[in-house]
Amino acid sequence: MSNIPLRRSIDKRSARSRGWSDLFGWQVERDATEPLFRQVYRHARSAILSRKLRSGAKLPSTRWLAAHLEISRSCVIEAYEQLLAEGYAEGKIGSGTFVSVDLPTIERNTRRAADPMPKTQPRLTQRARDFADAAPSTGNLRVPFDTGCSTIDAVTVATWASTSRRSLVTIGDVHLSYSDPRGISELRTQIAEYLRAARGANCEPDQVIVTSGTQQGLDLALRVALDGQDEIWMEDPCYELAYRAAISAGLRVQSVPVDAEGLLVSEGIRSAPRARAVIVTPSHQYPLGMVLSMRRRLELLDWARDRSAWIIEDDYDSEFRYAGRPLAALQGLDENDRVIYLGTFSKSLFPGLRLGYAVVPRFLVKAFTGARYLTDRHPPTLSQEILTKFMSEGHYSAHIRRARLAYRSARDILISELKRKASGLSVESPEQGRHVVGYLQYGRSDTAVSRAARNAGMMVRPLSNLYRRSPRRSGLLLGFAGFSSVEIKRGTARLAKILDGVPA
Ligand SMILES: Cc1ncc(COP(=O)(O)O)c(C=O)c1O
Repeated sequence: MSNIPLRRSIDKRSARSRGWSDLFGWQVERDATEPLFRQVYRHARSAILSRKLRSGAKLPSTRWLAAHLEISRSCVIEAYEQLLAEGYAEGKIGSGTFVSVDLPTIERNTRRAADPMPKTQPRLTQRARDFADAAPSTGNLRVPFDTGCSTIDAVTVATWASTSRRSLVTIGDVHLSYSDPRGISELRTQIAEYLRAARGANCEPDQVIVTSGTQQGLDLALRVALDGQDEIWMEDPCYELAYRAAISAGLRVQSVPVDAEGLLVSEGIRSAPRARAVIVTPSHQYPLGMVLSMRRRLELLDWARDRSAWIIEDDYDSEFRYAGRPLAALQGLDENDRVIYLGTFSKSLFPGLRLGYAVVPRFLVKAFTGARYLTDRHPPTLSQEILTKFMSEGHYSAHIRRARLAYRSARDILISELKRKASGLSVESPEQGRHVVGYLQYGRSDTAVSRAARNAGMMVRPLSNLYRRSPRRSGLLLGFAGFSSVEIKRGTARLAKILDGVPA
């Protein structure tokens, strides 16, 4: 290597005359995780994009560049091959490699890359603004008292792992090509059987569409069953993501108050008689927790029949009922094909699974199938197969029985701790679901408590944010499903301190 410094000083002059000055600033790091060829490729690409290496310029020979950077020639060859394959360079390694002459498009990209936020921003559409408003900052971390968390016990972990392993070893034709947009028929059969037995639903497998959760079910239902600008009713207060989905679909939302019997159907009819649909949580009003009374269910079904309107039923956590018999789904009462029923495995199993289902009237099945196909073709076959085995072998119902006991005990601990420690909060033990609503007393602001809780590493959602028009109540949504008794006890102690510190 003794001749390298001499060669470098000679080469430097000729390199300058060829526009290669930029090369002298290139450095490669031998200890970096990024392979050496990739580092060379990156340097060359950015020199081309920034026009330091101009269109048509000859690149240094691989031998020269390898000696200059003191790396092996094969690294440089690999980098050049990449540049050739991606169109940044043309020619042939060995007989001369040149910066591509087709630079105008590349130039435009350069400007964008160098200036990611141009000074004058293009105008966003209303739809883009609605989507941007809905974007969360991150995924949720598992912190008390996030309502989105779940627990699965060691038995469920073990049975899930063994069904997954068995599905993996039998991976075959069904996974190697595209599959049914509605979901695999075995899973649709399991879901239909489960819904008939556990939820009193009236459905056959051909009406079931496997979704990636309620959110996708809502998105499909709103786009398939309604036209933009249609008016719909939503409960007030309501599930924020349903509201956002409706707004981003271009619908006009009429918020309808709820009372102890659930949605005030008469108020909906009075305030928005031409509405084409309603999104409703009849089994467990979200967030307040009441059940839609039989009287109101019948009123709602009559309205939907008379107006040819849709009832989009969000049945999200009925598996977890702690007193009395589970309440049947509204869908089972519908004799006029007006209900689009949505369910999820996010609550009964865990949200990361991203599987749920819609049960749709037969004459909507084809449209739902097409909408699903155009959205993301179909649900992942492997996770569907795992879930099918999990359900058909009885693990799902056993898991729900155990989870129900665990969640009931978590609920009891949370309620008794809150009653003991958090004097500024009025709570009642819910008979269903996975969260408690604590009403704040003495005029305390739930958003202030929520902010302080976030700073203390907890997630308590403020109730007042979920109201649209009705008088807002100040309260906190406290999820108990994902947490051990120790976490709940520590969390309530911290929350009690926060409540003491927030001025009335
Ligand atoms: C009212 C309501 N419906 C449905 C869901 C479940 O949504 P997904 O199935 O998209 O996870 C949630 C989750 O928090 C919810 O609060």
